[in-house]
Amino acid sequence: MSYVTTATLIQMKKQGEKIAVLTSYDASFTALLENAGIEVILIGDSLGMVIQGQESTLPVAVEEMVYHTRCVARGRRNALLIADMPFMSYSLANQALGTAGRLMKDGGAHMVKLEGGATQLETVRQLTENGIPVCAHLGLLPQSVYKLGGYRVQGGDEASAMLMKEDALALEQAGAQMLILECVPASLAAKISKALVIPVIGIGAGPDCDGQVLVVYDMLGITPKKAPKFVKNFLQGNKSVQDALTAYVKEVKAGSFPDSDHSFQ
Ligand code: KIV
Repeated sequence: MSYVTTATLIQMKKQGEKIAVLTSYDASFTALLENAGIEVILIGDSLGMVIQGQESTLPVAVEEMVYHTRCVARGRRNALLIADMPFMSYSLANQALGTAGRLMKDGGAHMVKLEGGATQLETVRQLTENGIPVCAHLGLLPQSVYKLGGYRVQGGDEASAMLMKEDALALEQAGAQMLILECVPASLAAKISKALVIPVIGIGAGPDCDGQVLVVYDMLGITPKKAPKFVKNFLQGNKSVQDALTAYVKEVKAGSFPDSDHSFQ
């Protein structure tokens, strides 16, 4: 496999080849993800919960994201690296430029991710105009968990579904080059994936997205808390971490993960 770029991912979407994505926070896991053929690695602010043991992703600092991105970059061979911009580090467009600059220059990220729809359009525009590729994130926004009142499926009624689709199209128009949809009914995620040119990666968003992402600790059953419905433990039935990661890539590529047991209707 040669270097994965945003052009590679657009091509994969055009050809109907599913994109396999997982989170990683260090060099050793990254090497295993690369062996398994993962195309995109997300240095998610989920590290606040699975590494730091925080209650939510909110306390994660830019400095911590830079540190973990640098660790992942050292283990990376071909995958595209996306780093999360932490809570309150991109509220103003100028601040977002500073955060993204650090993640790319000091961390080695190839793309940055931010959460939100209409309110983020100006920031997405500014970042992309400055040569910074952006992955947007709609549906359940973990950085807004206290506003949302918990980790719940989003876009379940007609009005919120329509708004999410409009936000997705506007983010693409503003320059976003990838979109993550989290905890969204499968039928809505399918419609959004079809409407967009950029790749749409689902987590709890059904099988018809252009690719899938999970938190690596969740899909290995390491996370001590009860896993959400959309998580499958790939270590069960596989004899090593490497085999579990390879099984995940195989199921994503075949379109057999997620099945209806791991999706919302
Ligand atoms: O932080 C993270 O790991 C994420 C995924 C849940 C998509 O944003």
